[in-house]
Amino acid sequence: MITKYTHGSPINTEAVTASLEACSVSEFPFEHRVENGKFIFSFEMKKSDILYGLGEAPRGINKRGWLYESYCSDDPFHTETKHSLYAAHNFILLGGDKPFGLYIDFPARIRWDLGYSKENLAEITLDGSDFDIYYITGNTPREIVREFRGIIGKSYLPPLWAFGYQQSRWSYHNAEVVDSIIKGYDDAEIPLDCVYLDIDYMDSYKDFTINGEAFPNFAEYVKDKKAQGIRLIPIIDAGVKKEDGYRIYEEGKEKGFFCKKADGSDFEAGVWPGVCSFPDFLDPEARRWFGEQYKCLIDCGIEGFWNDMNEPALFYSADGISKALDKAAALKGENLDLGKFFNLKDTFMGLSNAQDDYSSIYHNIDGEMINHQRVHNLYGASMTKAAGEYFIKEHGEGKILMFSRASFIGAHRCGGIWFGDNHSWWSHILLNLKMLPSANMCGFLYCGADLGGFNENATRDLVLRFLALGVFTPLMRNHSALGTRDQEAFRFENVKDFRDIIEVRYRLIPYLYKTFVEAREKNDMLFRPLSFDYPDDKLARECETQLMLGEECMIAPVYEQNAGGRAVYLPEDMTLIKLSGTRVEKQELTKGLHYVEVALNEVPLFVKKGKKIPLCSPARRTRDLDLENLEYI
Ligand code: GLC
Repeated sequence: MITKYTHGSPINTEAVTASLEACSVSEFPFEHRVENGKFIFSFEMKKSDILYGLGEAPRGINKRGWLYESYCSDDPFHTETKHSLYAAHNFILLGGDKPFGLYIDFPARIRWDLGYSKENLAEITLDGSDFDIYYITGNTPREIVREFRGIIGKSYLPPLWAFGYQQSRWSYHNAEVVDSIIKGYDDAEIPLDCVYLDIDYMDSYKDFTINGEAFPNFAEYVKDKKAQGIRLIPIIDAGVKKEDGYRIYEEGKEKGFFCKKADGSDFEAGVWPGVCSFPDFLDPEARRWFGEQYKCLIDCGIEGFWNDMNEPALFYSADGISKALDKAAALKGENLDLGKFFNLKDTFMGLSNAQDDYSSIYHNIDGEMINHQRVHNLYGASMTKAAGEYFIKEHGEGKILMFSRASFIGAHRCGGIWFGDNHSWWSHILLNLKMLPSANMCGFLYCGADLGGFNENATRDLVLRFLALGVFTPLMRNHSALGTRDQEAFRFENVKDFRDIIEVRYRLIPYLYKTFVEAREKNDMLFRPLSFDYPDDKLARECETQLMLGEECMIAPVYEQNAGGRAVYLPEDMTLIKLSGTRVEKQELTKGLHYVEVALNEVPLFVKKGKKIPLCSPARRTRDLDLENLEYI
């Protein structure tokens, strides 16, 4: 059952598609108050309760014991000390004797103290008091998730080829380099479906332009790659370069489609191209206009995009730089003591994504100038909608690949997400695994992390283990940052191991795609914590390193350096299947703890009794998969 509570005059976030009769907050079943304009509420937790949710966020599947913030943040250091990442997914779910879910439909900052200040108390503070809260009850956590998903609309459906293996890097600078990547994969006989074009494919980082020297005859080139079975996926950034004569900039400016400052002038800040204006995706007309711009690339044969820097990321503003320089000039020649030095350092470090800059942005919402801080978390989601709504209108569902960095519930209907700039760290295999069920609860089914890790140098074994998790994530993309070591599968010693892992993905595509489509249809999750399925089993309840997948199986990737396997907990008797290329090895295991050996070229999968998993033969492209002839394990 779902009850909606409304307070004040909430901004329409478009997150919820169902219209429910609202009750007054005076009937809200939790202790609450408004203090300094902020709505604060709290509830007690039993020691044994698990608190799930918050989608893409730091820390565990069980969110208890930490302080989180819903505030979309461009932060490439995903350490345990962080409170927020790129998304704001305001859904939590308490699993216990009396399970319930809460969705806070509110687009500004929310602070979630989930047992951080007091072990058994959750206290949630909204940076405002105009909101809708949905209180959802049901018999089980899974039922509550389905109820919730039922009011936010069906998740985005990607094309089947988007389940193929994808290779990215910042950047493949020109057509020759892209060709060499495809050749590298083809020579190594490793499957591949997509190659990504990061910011350098553009002319001076201008959205919807092509660097003609790097990619002469772009449309021909895209067609040629498609004939080879490879899709090129360009990036689109939120900021639009300020440049006279650049059509998108001139049109946006003339039509008044950019975000404003209090004095009505366009808000400007630096990103990759230097000074940019920012489309006001919250204004329906501006959103429609930006969505239509993707057409020029679709006309060239492009069938997929990734939207980036849409928290929005702001490197600096002219105002911020000028104040920092004034401060530095005033201190010139001074003896800088502890306080003065660190203050100066922090001033420069704080130039990017500065709160002062966010506070100076205004959006046009139904003709009213609304300060950005009131709607911060809608910006990236609205960019995804600009693109996704246009794609669905023009091409129908399941045709164009779209995923984004920043997100808010609602955008899950128009695209997927990737988990942003992770690191080539062993700990990030687990961090990324933990986000999968949480993101699924919030409607984001098409998701995945930068496999191999984005920042820093990856090692061969790390990439293999990361890929072995990626075999199961709908988005299976290897991506890495500028200046890092080459990370494509064919670059490493003994490429056969990589072929063995990636071929397993292609063998599983019929199963994964079907499971995905069913989860979408039933408003269900693709990945579940073990505690959802085995609520009375203590080890299952505490398990944060394994996930249930579909109705049939459980995954347990290896996530430690130099490990030849891992400890796995089986909540019931299962068959361990080790998959490697076309090899399938089976072993019956009983309920309980086991140490399972997993070679670097193997993908372990645990299948429940009485269940079967279809496998097709591997192929070098998804288009070559024979989806009719399946063998069952
Ligand atoms: C951001 C993105 C990353 C991309 C880079 C350059 O850091 O998160 O994926 O490669 O920008 O465009």
